[in-house]
Formats: sequence, structure tokens, C-alpha cells
Amino acid sequence: MPRPTRALVDLSALQHNYRLACERAAPGQSMAVVKADGYGHGIARVAGALAELAPCFAVACIEEALSIRQAGLSQPVVLLEGVHTAEDLGICAGQGFEPVLHNAEQLAWLAQSGARPRIWIKLNTGMNRLGFPPAELPACLAQARHQGVEVRGLMTHFACSDDLDDDFTQVQTRRLQQAAADYPGLALSLANSAAHFRPGQPLFHWTRPGIMLYGATPMLAASAAELGLKPVMTLESELIAVRTLQPGDSVGYGATWVAEQSTPMGIVAIGYGDGYPRHAGTGTPAAVNGRRVRLIGRVSMDMLALDLSAVPDARVGDRVELWGGQVSVDEVAASAGTIGYELLTGVTVRVPRIYRN
Ligand SMILES: Cc1ncc(COP(=O)(O)O)c(C=O)c1O
Repeated sequence: MPRPTRALVDLSALQHNYRLACERAAPGQSMAVVKADGYGHGIARVAGALAELAPCFAVACIEEALSIRQAGLSQPVVLLEGVHTAEDLGICAGQGFEPVLHNAEQLAWLAQSGARPRIWIKLNTGMNRLGFPPAELPACLAQARHQGVEVRGLMTHFACSDDLDDDFTQVQTRRLQQAAADYPGLALSLANSAAHFRPGQPLFHWTRPGIMLYGATPMLAASAAELGLKPVMTLESELIAVRTLQPGDSVGYGATWVAEQSTPMGIVAIGYGDGYPRHAGTGTPAAVNGRRVRLIGRVSMDMLALDLSAVPDARVGDRVELWGGQVSVDEVAASAGTIGYELLTGVTVRVPRIYRN
């Protein structure tokens, strides 16, 4: 009998979410961001499910781009972190990968390698992570063109687009527009998932939706359901033990939770060794047989405990949803002091991914 812990991946929900991004991006297009193993869902299957819909994929690095080719897909793949060696540029040229060059070293590698991939140039409009200062754009373009390299477009990345009350996104947008004003032939790409949901936000030629494709919220103050997104991953397991705790009985490491009254309790075969967050404390929601219950005590490596007061008839073998359609990954993330991104990308290799639809 296999361990009952698994991640169900609903590929039709993924397609629904990608179509929603496309509707919002129109007349621009959307490159599907499938880095970090498709945000933990499995890059080959995710990219495959989007193959008929997405004209372009985006990943962090060349290894991820190569796994898209190994899956048999031929779309351009944008490398959001550029390349790490001059030799990588040759691979990009041969494979149809489009690196986003963000520093002087990478530009210099163009001359050194002699390779001629199509490239993007990243501008730093305020994130202060990667990118050239906008004032250096003319020199960057001149250098790239001198090497005979086609520059497909300009890219920047938002720092605060998840927060509708913050106007830094407008500031960054203006900086990109000003830098690009003299180059109308270049495509512009600045929108992550959150930008798709900002009223009045220009999205330009190419958006880059990531987390929204997987059905978690990109916004601080709106749930995924409110945004029309469908959860793609259901993380589920089963009860492997049930018992009734008596007043004064504790549960788990550190004996941090103590029953004040007689409490039906169930142990679930999932823990931080599967990527369930150890910081999820007492009160974190889960669902047993479709009814919401709460986690109690500390999460162990392979197990966690649930208060079954809301489902007193629950038995060993009953299904437990840790996140999915009944409990959103964002709720669990909030309980653990993190974001849905970290939970989805953190589901470990021990958990088999089962694909549906
Ligand atoms: C450069 C870049 N573009 C787009 C994305 C997608 O962002 P999100 O998942 O918030 O849509 C990311 C994700 O980190 C990124 O680094």
C-alpha cells in the first residue's frame, strides 16, 4: 500500500487560470511562468498542459528551459535570470531560449561567445534586484546591436504590485515607459500576476503570470476565489490514527497543546518532510471528509495532529485535505507566516504528483 499522501494537480484549473491571465493581458500576450518546477506542480506536465495555449514560457534558469525542450515543446523560453556563463549563450541561440540580460558581464559575454540568441534587457526601475539603470539603456542597446544581436524587448519587475494601496507600481511603470519612449519597436514586459488585477494598470506587450496560474492569490487583500482563480494543487493525505484526548493530555513534540476537555484527535500522514510548513500552528485549517477542522500542536516531519471535534465520526483511512478547494493554500500560508508561493514550491519529492484532466 503506498503512503496516502499526494498532490493532485488539476490541469484544467491551470488552463482556466492561464486563460484568465490572457483575457486580462489582451491585446498583449502572456508568457507562462513555470520556474521552480512549475511552482512545485511539475514543470513538464504544467508546460505540456499549456502547450496549445501559451506562445512562450518563462523560467529562471537554463536547466529549467532545457526540461521544457525535453518535454518536447518548441516555444521560445525566456530566462528571467539571464545566463551564468558565456557558453550558456550558445545553448540559448541553439535552443531558442531568450535570456534576459541584466548586467554588464552578461552583455560582455555576447562579444566573447559569438553566439547570437534573441535577448531581452532588464531595467532596474526600483526593485533593486537585477537590471541596468534606465539611463544606461542606450549604451546597452548599442552594444547588443553592435554584436548583431536582436533585442526582443525591455523587462522590469514590480516590487509592490500586490498592494493596491501602494503607488510604487505606477512609479516603476512610468520609469519603464520613459526609458522605452525612444524605442517603439521594443516589446515591453513588466506585469507579474498581481499587476493583472490592478485597475488601470497598463500591461503592454507581454505579461508574466506565475502564481495566478496555480490558483493562489497574488494580492495582499483579495483571495484567489475572489479573483476568479481555481486551485490547481490539492495536497491530501489520510488519518492514520484517531484517539480521544482527555483533559490534561498533550499532543506532539514539546507537548505544546493540551486538551482542556475531552477531544477527538486524528493523526495525518503528512509533515514538514513533505513540505507542509512546520510553522503552521494550532488553529491552521484543514478539511476531513469535506468538513473544516483545525491543526493542533507542532507539525512533525511525517505527521501532524487535527482536532476532530467537528467530525467526531472520522475514522482511520478518512481523507484529509491540507490545501486545495476547501482550504486555500493562502490560508495555510497565512497561518504559517508565509505566502502560497513558498508552500507550493516547497512540496517535497516524497509527495507523488497525480495529474487530472
Ligand atoms: C522576473 C519575474 N517575472 C515574473 C514572475 C512571476 O511572478 P508571480 O508569480 O508573482 O506572478 C516572477 C516570479 O518571481 C519573476 O521573478
